[in-house]
Amino acid sequence: MANVVIVGTQWGDEGKGKIVDLLTEHADFVVRFQGGNNAGHTLVVEGKKYVFHLIPSGILYENKMCFIGNGVVLDPGVLLEEMDKLAASGLPVNPQRLMISERAHLIMPYHRLLDSCSESALASGKKIGTTGRGIGPCYGDKILRKGIKAGDLLDAPSLMEKIRENLEEKNFLFSKKFNADPLAPEAVYDEYMQHADRLAPYIDNVSVALDNGRKAGKHILFEGAQGTQLDIDHGTYPFVTSSNTIAGNACTGSGFGPSHIDCVIGILKAYTTRVGEGPFPTELFDPTGDELQKKGGEFGATTGRKRRCGWLDGVIAREAVRLNGINGLAITKLDVLSGQPTLKLATSYEADGKTLNAMPGNIKTYAKMQPIYEDLAGWSEEITQARSVEDLPAKARDYVKRIEEFTETPAYILSVGPGREQTMLLNNPFQK
Ligand code: IMP
Repeated sequence: MANVVIVGTQWGDEGKGKIVDLLTEHADFVVRFQGGNNAGHTLVVEGKKYVFHLIPSGILYENKMCFIGNGVVLDPGVLLEEMDKLAASGLPVNPQRLMISERAHLIMPYHRLLDSCSESALASGKKIGTTGRGIGPCYGDKILRKGIKAGDLLDAPSLMEKIRENLEEKNFLFSKKFNADPLAPEAVYDEYMQHADRLAPYIDNVSVALDNGRKAGKHILFEGAQGTQLDIDHGTYPFVTSSNTIAGNACTGSGFGPSHIDCVIGILKAYTTRVGEGPFPTELFDPTGDELQKKGGEFGATTGRKRRCGWLDGVIAREAVRLNGINGLAITKLDVLSGQPTLKLATSYEADGKTLNAMPGNIKTYAKMQPIYEDLAGWSEEITQARSVEDLPAKARDYVKRIEEFTETPAYILSVGPGREQTMLLNNPFQK
Protein backbone atom coordinates (compact mmCIF):
# COMPACT_ATOMS: atom_id res chain seq x y z
CA MET A 1 0.00 0.00 0.00
CA ALA A 2 1.33 3.45 -0.89
CA ASN A 3 -0.27 6.84 -1.22
CA VAL A 4 1.61 9.19 -3.51
CA VAL A 5 1.25 12.90 -4.24
CA ILE A 6 2.45 14.40 -7.52
CA VAL A 7 3.10 18.15 -7.71
CA GLY A 8 4.62 20.58 -10.17
CA THR A 9 7.80 22.25 -8.89
CA GLN A 10 7.79 25.29 -11.20
CA TRP A 11 4.98 27.38 -12.74
CA GLY A 12 2.93 24.44 -14.00
CA ASP A 13 3.20 22.67 -17.35
CA GLU A 14 6.12 20.54 -16.15
CA GLY A 15 4.71 17.49 -17.90
CA LYS A 16 2.68 16.20 -14.95
CA GLY A 17 0.07 14.65 -17.26
CA LYS A 18 2.49 12.10 -18.65
CA ILE A 19 3.96 11.16 -15.26
CA VAL A 20 0.51 10.90 -13.69
CA ASP A 21 -0.51 8.65 -16.55
CA LEU A 22 2.58 6.50 -16.06
CA LEU A 23 2.09 6.10 -12.31
CA THR A 24 -1.66 5.60 -12.58
CA GLU A 25 -0.87 2.12 -13.82
CA HIS A 26 0.27 1.31 -10.26
CA ALA A 27 -2.62 3.08 -8.47
CA ASP A 28 -6.21 2.08 -7.70
CA PHE A 29 -7.59 5.56 -6.99
CA VAL A 30 -6.64 8.87 -8.66
CA VAL A 31 -7.62 12.11 -6.95
CA ARG A 32 -7.71 15.75 -8.07
CA PHE A 33 -7.50 18.01 -5.02
CA GLN A 34 -7.22 21.62 -6.20
CA GLY A 35 -7.60 23.93 -9.17
CA GLY A 36 -10.21 23.46 -11.82
CA ASN A 37 -10.40 23.63 -15.56
CA ASN A 38 -7.53 26.13 -15.61
CA ALA A 39 -5.40 22.97 -15.72
CA GLY A 40 -5.14 20.82 -18.78
CA HIS A 41 -3.20 18.01 -20.28
CA THR A 42 -3.28 16.07 -23.48
CA LEU A 43 -2.65 12.36 -23.69
CA VAL A 44 -2.35 10.20 -26.76
CA VAL A 45 -3.31 6.60 -26.09
CA GLU A 46 -3.41 4.05 -28.90
CA GLY A 47 -3.44 6.86 -31.44
CA LYS A 48 -6.42 8.65 -29.87
CA LYS A 49 -5.97 12.11 -28.43
CA TYR A 50 -7.64 12.98 -25.12
CA VAL A 51 -7.62 16.41 -23.48
CA PHE A 52 -8.35 16.53 -19.76
CA HIS A 53 -9.15 19.60 -17.71
CA LEU A 54 -11.05 18.17 -14.75
CA ILE A 55 -11.38 14.40 -14.84
CA PRO A 56 -8.20 12.58 -13.79
CA SER A 57 -6.68 10.83 -16.79
CA GLY A 58 -6.96 7.62 -14.73
CA ILE A 59 -10.41 7.36 -16.30
CA LEU A 60 -8.66 5.91 -19.36
CA TYR A 61 -7.72 2.82 -17.38
CA GLU A 62 -10.33 0.24 -16.55
CA ASN A 63 -10.75 -0.50 -12.84
CA LYS A 64 -9.34 2.81 -11.63
CA MET A 65 -11.63 4.98 -9.58
CA CYS A 66 -11.28 8.75 -10.07
CA PHE A 67 -12.16 11.42 -7.54
CA ILE A 68 -12.73 15.16 -7.68
CA GLY A 69 -11.97 16.39 -4.17
CA ASN A 70 -13.48 19.22 -2.14
CA GLY A 71 -10.50 21.47 -2.95
CA VAL A 72 -11.35 21.53 -6.66
CA VAL A 73 -13.49 24.28 -8.16
CA LEU A 74 -15.82 22.55 -10.56
CA ASP A 75 -17.45 23.98 -13.66
CA PRO A 76 -20.24 21.42 -14.16
CA GLY A 77 -20.80 22.32 -17.81
CA VAL A 78 -17.14 21.69 -18.58
CA LEU A 79 -17.17 18.42 -16.66
CA LEU A 80 -20.22 17.17 -18.57
CA GLU A 81 -18.63 18.16 -21.87
CA GLU A 82 -15.51 16.19 -20.91
CA MET A 83 -17.69 13.20 -19.96
CA ASP A 84 -19.58 13.42 -23.27
CA LYS A 85 -16.34 13.52 -25.25
CA LEU A 86 -15.08 10.45 -23.43
CA ALA A 87 -18.36 8.65 -24.09
CA ALA A 88 -18.12 9.57 -27.80
CA SER A 89 -14.66 7.92 -27.87
CA GLY A 90 -16.14 4.74 -26.45
CA LEU A 91 -15.28 5.42 -22.79
CA PRO A 92 -18.54 6.15 -20.97
CA VAL A 93 -18.03 7.57 -17.47
CA ASN A 94 -20.25 6.25 -14.69
CA PRO A 95 -20.51 6.66 -10.90
CA GLN A 96 -18.50 3.46 -10.40
CA ARG A 97 -15.55 5.26 -12.04
CA LEU A 98 -15.93 8.88 -10.91
CA MET A 99 -16.95 10.48 -7.61
CA ILE A 100 -17.36 14.21 -7.00
CA SER A 101 -17.07 15.62 -3.51
CA GLU A 102 -20.31 17.13 -2.26
CA ARG A 103 -18.07 19.86 -0.81
CA ALA A 104 -16.39 20.91 -4.08
CA HIS A 105 -17.36 24.48 -4.96
CA LEU A 106 -19.06 25.15 -8.27
CA ILE A 107 -17.87 27.67 -10.81
CA MET A 108 -20.94 29.69 -11.75
CA PRO A 109 -21.46 31.81 -14.90
CA TYR A 110 -20.95 34.96 -12.83
CA HIS A 111 -17.49 33.70 -11.76
CA ARG A 112 -16.38 33.44 -15.37
CA LEU A 113 -17.77 36.88 -16.13
CA LEU A 114 -16.15 38.38 -13.03
CA ASP A 115 -12.82 36.80 -14.00
CA SER A 116 -12.82 38.42 -17.43
CA CYS A 117 -14.21 41.77 -16.20
CA SER A 118 -11.67 42.06 -13.35
CA GLU A 119 -8.78 41.08 -15.58
CA SER A 120 -9.76 43.60 -18.28
CA ALA A 121 -10.10 46.32 -15.64
CA LEU A 122 -6.51 45.85 -14.42
CA ALA A 123 -3.89 48.26 -15.73
CA SER A 124 -1.10 46.84 -17.86
CA GLY A 125 1.66 45.54 -15.57
CA LYS A 126 -0.97 44.55 -13.00
CA LYS A 127 -2.78 41.95 -15.11
CA ILE A 128 -2.42 38.37 -13.86
CA GLY A 129 -3.01 36.74 -17.24
CA THR A 130 -5.60 34.34 -15.78
CA THR A 131 -7.06 31.53 -17.85
CA GLY A 132 -10.45 33.30 -17.67
CA ARG A 133 -12.19 30.19 -16.34
CA GLY A 134 -13.61 31.85 -13.20
CA ILE A 135 -11.15 30.15 -10.85
CA GLY A 136 -10.23 33.16 -8.66
CA PRO A 137 -13.79 34.48 -8.17
CA CYS A 138 -15.03 30.98 -7.27
CA TYR A 139 -12.35 30.46 -4.62
CA GLY A 140 -13.04 34.04 -3.48
CA ASP A 141 -16.69 33.21 -2.81
CA LYS A 142 -15.65 30.02 -1.02
CA ILE A 143 -13.49 31.99 1.40
CA LEU A 144 -16.21 34.65 1.78
CA ARG A 145 -18.66 31.84 2.62
CA LYS A 146 -20.91 32.69 -0.31
CA GLY A 147 -20.01 29.70 -2.45
CA ILE A 148 -22.32 27.14 -4.00
CA LYS A 149 -21.18 23.55 -3.59
CA ALA A 150 -21.75 20.41 -5.65
CA GLY A 151 -23.98 19.19 -2.79
CA ASP A 152 -26.25 22.23 -3.35
CA LEU A 153 -27.21 20.76 -6.71
CA LEU A 154 -29.15 18.16 -4.72
CA ASP A 155 -31.23 20.78 -2.92
CA ALA A 156 -33.17 22.83 -5.49
CA PRO A 157 -34.76 25.48 -3.20
CA SER A 158 -31.46 26.23 -1.50
CA LEU A 159 -29.69 26.42 -4.89
CA MET A 160 -32.20 29.03 -6.11
CA GLU A 161 -31.83 31.06 -2.95
CA LYS A 162 -28.03 31.05 -3.15
CA ILE A 163 -28.02 32.03 -6.82
CA ARG A 164 -30.40 34.92 -6.06
CA GLU A 165 -28.31 36.17 -3.13
CA ASN A 166 -25.10 35.98 -5.13
CA LEU A 167 -26.53 37.68 -8.20
CA GLU A 168 -27.99 40.54 -6.21
CA GLU A 169 -24.46 41.57 -5.37
CA LYS A 170 -22.69 40.47 -8.57
CA ASN A 171 -25.23 42.12 -10.88
CA PHE A 172 -24.64 45.37 -9.05
CA LEU A 173 -20.94 45.04 -9.87
CA PHE A 174 -21.61 44.05 -13.49
CA SER A 175 -23.89 46.99 -14.20
CA LYS A 176 -22.33 49.69 -12.00
CA LYS A 177 -18.64 48.88 -12.16
CA PHE A 178 -17.95 46.75 -15.21
CA ASN A 179 -20.54 47.98 -17.66
CA ALA A 180 -21.62 44.40 -18.38
CA ASP A 181 -25.11 42.90 -18.74
CA PRO A 182 -26.56 41.48 -15.52
CA LEU A 183 -27.38 37.74 -15.35
CA ALA A 184 -30.92 36.45 -14.74
CA PRO A 185 -31.08 34.16 -11.64
CA GLU A 186 -33.77 31.95 -13.25
CA ALA A 187 -31.62 31.26 -16.32
CA VAL A 188 -28.61 30.31 -14.17
CA TYR A 189 -30.83 28.13 -11.98
CA ASP A 190 -32.36 26.32 -14.98
CA GLU A 191 -28.94 25.64 -16.47
CA TYR A 192 -27.57 24.28 -13.19
CA MET A 193 -30.65 22.15 -12.51
CA GLN A 194 -30.05 20.46 -15.85
CA HIS A 195 -26.48 19.76 -14.75
CA ALA A 196 -27.83 18.52 -11.41
CA ASP A 197 -29.96 15.87 -13.12
CA ARG A 198 -26.91 14.35 -14.74
CA LEU A 199 -24.37 14.85 -11.95
CA ALA A 200 -26.43 13.84 -8.91
CA PRO A 201 -25.37 10.14 -8.97
CA TYR A 202 -21.71 11.16 -8.87
CA ILE A 203 -21.89 13.45 -5.83
CA ASP A 204 -20.83 11.84 -2.55
CA ASN A 205 -18.43 11.97 0.40
CA VAL A 206 -14.95 11.64 -1.13
CA SER A 207 -13.13 11.74 2.22
CA VAL A 208 -15.01 8.66 3.44
CA ALA A 209 -14.44 6.81 0.16
CA LEU A 210 -10.69 7.52 0.25
CA ASP A 211 -10.39 6.42 3.84
CA ASN A 212 -12.28 3.19 3.14
CA GLY A 213 -9.98 2.62 0.17
CA ARG A 214 -6.90 3.24 2.29
CA LYS A 215 -8.07 0.76 4.91
CA ALA A 216 -8.69 -1.80 2.17
CA GLY A 217 -5.08 -1.36 1.00
CA LYS A 218 -5.77 0.62 -2.17
CA HIS A 219 -2.94 2.63 -3.75
CA ILE A 220 -3.95 6.28 -4.02
CA LEU A 221 -2.43 8.82 -6.38
CA PHE A 222 -3.06 12.50 -5.68
CA GLU A 223 -2.68 14.53 -8.84
CA GLY A 224 -1.72 18.19 -8.32
CA ALA A 225 -2.48 20.86 -10.88
CA GLN A 226 -0.40 23.96 -11.74
CA GLY A 227 2.93 24.26 -9.90
CA THR A 228 4.59 25.34 -6.65
CA GLN A 229 5.37 28.89 -7.80
CA LEU A 230 1.66 29.39 -8.58
CA ASP A 231 0.67 28.53 -5.00
CA ILE A 232 -1.57 31.22 -3.48
CA ASP A 233 0.55 31.38 -0.29
CA HIS A 234 4.03 30.39 -1.37
CA GLY A 235 4.19 31.44 -5.02
CA THR A 236 4.97 34.72 -6.75
CA TYR A 237 1.87 36.45 -5.33
CA PRO A 238 -0.21 38.10 -6.78
CA PHE A 239 0.87 36.40 -10.04
CA VAL A 240 -0.39 33.02 -8.87
CA THR A 241 -3.48 30.88 -9.11
CA SER A 242 -6.09 30.99 -6.34
CA SER A 243 -5.42 27.64 -4.65
CA ASN A 244 -2.65 25.95 -2.71
CA THR A 245 -0.81 23.91 -5.29
CA ILE A 246 1.65 22.32 -2.87
CA ALA A 247 1.49 18.79 -1.51
CA GLY A 248 -0.08 19.77 1.82
CA ASN A 249 -3.27 20.56 -0.03
CA ALA A 250 -3.58 16.96 -1.21
CA CYS A 251 -4.88 16.34 2.31
CA THR A 252 -6.96 19.50 2.81
CA GLY A 253 -8.34 19.33 -0.71
CA SER A 254 -9.56 15.75 -0.46
CA GLY A 255 -10.16 15.08 3.23
CA PHE A 256 -7.28 12.60 3.54
CA GLY A 257 -5.14 12.48 6.69
CA PRO A 258 -1.51 13.71 6.30
CA SER A 259 0.03 10.76 8.15
CA HIS A 260 -1.21 8.45 5.38
CA ILE A 261 0.85 10.06 2.63
CA ASP A 262 3.90 7.91 1.86
CA CYS A 263 5.67 9.75 -0.91
CA VAL A 264 5.73 13.08 -2.74
CA ILE A 265 7.02 13.28 -6.30
CA GLY A 266 7.98 16.67 -7.74
CA ILE A 267 7.85 17.12 -11.49
CA LEU A 268 10.75 19.26 -12.68
CA LYS A 269 11.06 20.30 -16.30
CA ALA A 270 14.75 20.30 -17.34
CA TYR A 271 14.37 24.02 -18.11
CA THR A 272 11.72 26.52 -16.98
CA THR A 273 8.51 27.85 -18.52
CA ARG A 274 5.72 30.14 -17.43
CA VAL A 275 2.37 31.15 -19.00
CA GLY A 276 0.69 34.36 -18.02
CA GLU A 277 2.25 37.36 -16.33
CA GLY A 278 4.58 37.59 -13.36
CA PRO A 279 8.23 37.27 -12.35
CA PHE A 280 10.43 34.70 -14.03
CA PRO A 281 14.07 35.27 -13.02
CA THR A 282 15.71 32.90 -15.52
CA GLU A 283 13.57 33.89 -18.51
CA LEU A 284 15.43 34.04 -21.84
CA PHE A 285 14.64 36.81 -24.31
CA ASP A 286 17.07 35.55 -26.95
CA PRO A 287 17.16 32.90 -29.70
CA THR A 288 17.89 30.18 -27.12
CA GLY A 289 14.55 30.96 -25.45
CA ASP A 290 12.81 30.76 -28.85
CA GLU A 291 14.55 27.46 -29.56
CA LEU A 292 13.37 25.92 -26.27
CA GLN A 293 9.84 27.21 -26.96
CA LYS A 294 9.77 25.65 -30.44
CA LYS A 295 11.58 22.42 -29.67
CA GLY A 296 9.61 21.90 -26.47
CA GLY A 297 6.27 22.69 -28.18
CA GLU A 298 5.66 25.15 -25.36
CA PHE A 299 2.05 26.24 -25.76
CA GLY A 300 -0.45 26.27 -22.86
CA ALA A 301 -2.77 23.21 -22.97
CA THR A 302 -5.76 25.25 -21.76
CA THR A 303 -5.42 28.62 -23.46
CA GLY A 304 -2.99 27.82 -26.29
CA ARG A 305 -0.80 30.77 -25.22
CA LYS A 306 2.94 30.63 -25.99
CA ARG A 307 4.88 29.74 -22.86
CA ARG A 308 7.76 31.94 -21.79
CA CYS A 309 10.99 29.88 -21.58
CA GLY A 310 14.23 30.07 -19.60
CA TRP A 311 17.05 28.15 -17.93
CA LEU A 312 16.53 25.76 -15.07
CA ASP A 313 16.16 27.61 -11.79
CA GLY A 314 17.78 25.68 -8.94
CA VAL A 315 16.49 28.15 -6.35
CA ILE A 316 12.87 27.36 -7.14
CA ALA A 317 13.66 23.65 -7.43
CA ARG A 318 15.06 23.70 -3.89
CA GLU A 319 12.13 25.78 -2.75
CA ALA A 320 9.76 23.15 -4.16
CA VAL A 321 11.63 20.36 -2.38
CA ARG A 322 11.27 22.23 0.92
CA LEU A 323 7.63 23.31 0.52
CA ASN A 324 6.36 19.96 -0.70
CA GLY A 325 8.67 17.61 1.19
CA ILE A 326 9.59 16.01 -2.13
CA ASN A 327 11.09 12.51 -1.87
CA GLY A 328 11.93 12.08 -5.53
CA LEU A 329 12.02 14.14 -8.72
CA ALA A 330 10.62 13.32 -12.14
CA ILE A 331 12.83 15.27 -14.54
CA THR A 332 10.98 15.84 -17.81
CA LYS A 333 11.81 17.08 -21.30
CA LEU A 334 15.55 16.39 -20.99
CA ASP A 335 15.55 15.74 -24.75
CA VAL A 336 14.64 19.38 -25.47
CA LEU A 337 18.08 20.47 -24.19
CA SER A 338 19.99 18.32 -26.72
CA GLY A 339 22.16 20.49 -28.94
CA GLN A 340 22.69 23.32 -26.44
CA PRO A 341 26.47 23.75 -26.10
CA THR A 342 26.21 25.11 -22.55
CA LEU A 343 23.40 24.82 -20.04
CA LYS A 344 22.85 27.23 -17.20
CA LEU A 345 21.56 26.47 -13.74
CA ALA A 346 20.58 29.37 -11.47
CA THR A 347 22.02 28.60 -8.04
CA SER A 348 21.12 31.87 -6.25
CA TYR A 349 20.06 35.44 -6.99
CA GLU A 350 21.61 38.78 -6.26
CA ALA A 351 19.61 41.86 -5.31
CA ASP A 352 20.95 45.14 -3.83
CA GLY A 353 24.37 43.53 -3.37
CA LYS A 354 22.90 40.68 -1.29
CA THR A 355 22.76 37.00 -2.17
CA LEU A 356 19.32 35.38 -2.03
CA ASN A 357 18.93 31.63 -1.69
CA ALA A 358 15.14 31.58 -1.43
CA MET A 359 12.31 33.23 -3.32
CA PRO A 360 11.53 36.64 -1.83
CA GLY A 361 8.09 37.27 -0.33
CA ASN A 362 7.97 40.84 -1.62
CA ILE A 363 7.06 40.99 -5.30
CA LYS A 364 9.02 44.24 -5.77
CA THR A 365 12.31 42.45 -5.06
CA TYR A 366 11.95 40.41 -8.27
CA ALA A 367 12.55 43.47 -10.46
CA LYS A 368 15.96 43.93 -8.84
CA MET A 369 17.01 40.29 -8.82
CA GLN A 370 19.69 38.83 -11.07
CA PRO A 371 20.15 35.06 -11.22
CA ILE A 372 23.65 33.78 -10.50
CA TYR A 373 24.36 30.95 -12.91
CA GLU A 374 26.57 27.93 -12.91
CA ASP A 375 27.54 26.72 -16.40
CA LEU A 376 27.17 23.05 -17.20
CA ALA A 377 28.34 21.29 -20.35
CA GLY A 378 25.59 20.43 -22.82
CA TRP A 379 25.38 17.39 -25.11
CA SER A 380 24.85 17.25 -28.84
CA GLU A 381 23.25 13.79 -29.18
CA GLU A 382 19.47 13.36 -29.54
CA ILE A 383 18.34 11.30 -26.55
CA THR A 384 14.71 10.52 -27.39
CA GLN A 385 15.64 6.84 -27.90
CA ALA A 386 17.31 6.47 -24.49
CA ARG A 387 15.55 3.86 -22.38
CA SER A 388 17.98 3.59 -19.47
CA VAL A 389 20.41 5.94 -17.76
CA GLU A 390 23.28 4.09 -19.46
CA ASP A 391 21.85 5.11 -22.87
CA LEU A 392 22.26 8.80 -21.99
CA PRO A 393 25.43 10.69 -22.99
CA ALA A 394 27.77 11.36 -20.03
CA LYS A 395 27.00 15.10 -20.12
CA ALA A 396 23.25 14.46 -19.78
CA ARG A 397 23.92 12.12 -16.86
CA ASP A 398 26.09 14.84 -15.29
CA TYR A 399 23.27 17.37 -15.71
CA VAL A 400 20.87 15.07 -13.88
CA LYS A 401 23.46 14.35 -11.20
CA ARG A 402 24.02 18.07 -10.63
CA ILE A 403 20.26 18.63 -10.20
CA GLU A 404 20.14 15.78 -7.69
CA GLU A 405 23.10 17.19 -5.77
CA PHE A 406 21.84 20.76 -5.80
CA THR A 407 18.32 19.86 -4.67
CA GLU A 408 19.54 17.04 -2.38
CA THR A 409 16.83 14.92 -3.94
CA PRO A 410 17.16 11.80 -6.10
CA ALA A 411 15.65 11.52 -9.56
CA TYR A 412 12.98 8.80 -9.52
CA ILE A 413 11.92 9.28 -13.14
CA LEU A 414 13.59 10.68 -16.29
CA SER A 415 11.58 11.57 -19.37
CA VAL A 416 13.00 12.07 -22.86
CA GLY A 417 9.87 12.51 -24.98
CA PRO A 418 6.09 12.51 -24.88
CA GLY A 419 5.61 8.74 -25.34
CA ARG A 420 5.06 6.39 -22.41
CA GLU A 421 8.03 4.35 -23.55
CA GLN A 422 10.30 7.42 -23.45
CA THR A 423 10.47 7.23 -19.68
CA MET A 424 12.99 5.78 -17.24
CA LEU A 425 11.35 4.71 -14.01
CA LEU A 426 14.36 4.50 -11.70
CA ASN A 427 12.41 4.25 -8.47
CA ASN A 428 8.71 3.38 -8.35
CA PRO A 429 7.07 5.29 -5.48
CA PHE A 430 4.31 2.71 -5.24
CA GLN A 431 6.87 0.05 -4.42
CA LYS A 432 8.46 1.90 -1.51
P1 IMP B 1 -6.07 31.32 -12.99
O1 IMP B 1 -5.67 30.04 -12.35
O2 IMP B 1 -6.90 31.15 -14.23
O3 IMP B 1 -6.69 32.30 -12.02
O4 IMP B 1 -4.73 32.07 -13.52
C1 IMP B 1 -3.75 32.57 -12.62
C2 IMP B 1 -2.34 32.31 -13.16
O5 IMP B 1 -2.05 30.91 -13.09
C3 IMP B 1 -2.12 32.72 -14.62
O6 IMP B 1 -0.79 33.21 -14.76
C4 IMP B 1 -2.27 31.42 -15.37
O7 IMP B 1 -1.57 31.43 -16.60
C5 IMP B 1 -1.65 30.46 -14.38
N1 IMP B 1 -2.15 29.08 -14.53
C6 IMP B 1 -3.35 28.59 -14.15
N2 IMP B 1 -3.45 27.29 -14.44
C7 IMP B 1 -2.29 26.93 -15.00
C8 IMP B 1 -1.78 25.68 -15.47
O8 IMP B 1 -2.42 24.62 -15.41
N3 IMP B 1 -0.51 25.71 -15.97
C9 IMP B 1 0.24 26.85 -15.98
N4 IMP B 1 -0.19 28.02 -15.56
C10 IMP B 1 -1.44 28.07 -15.05
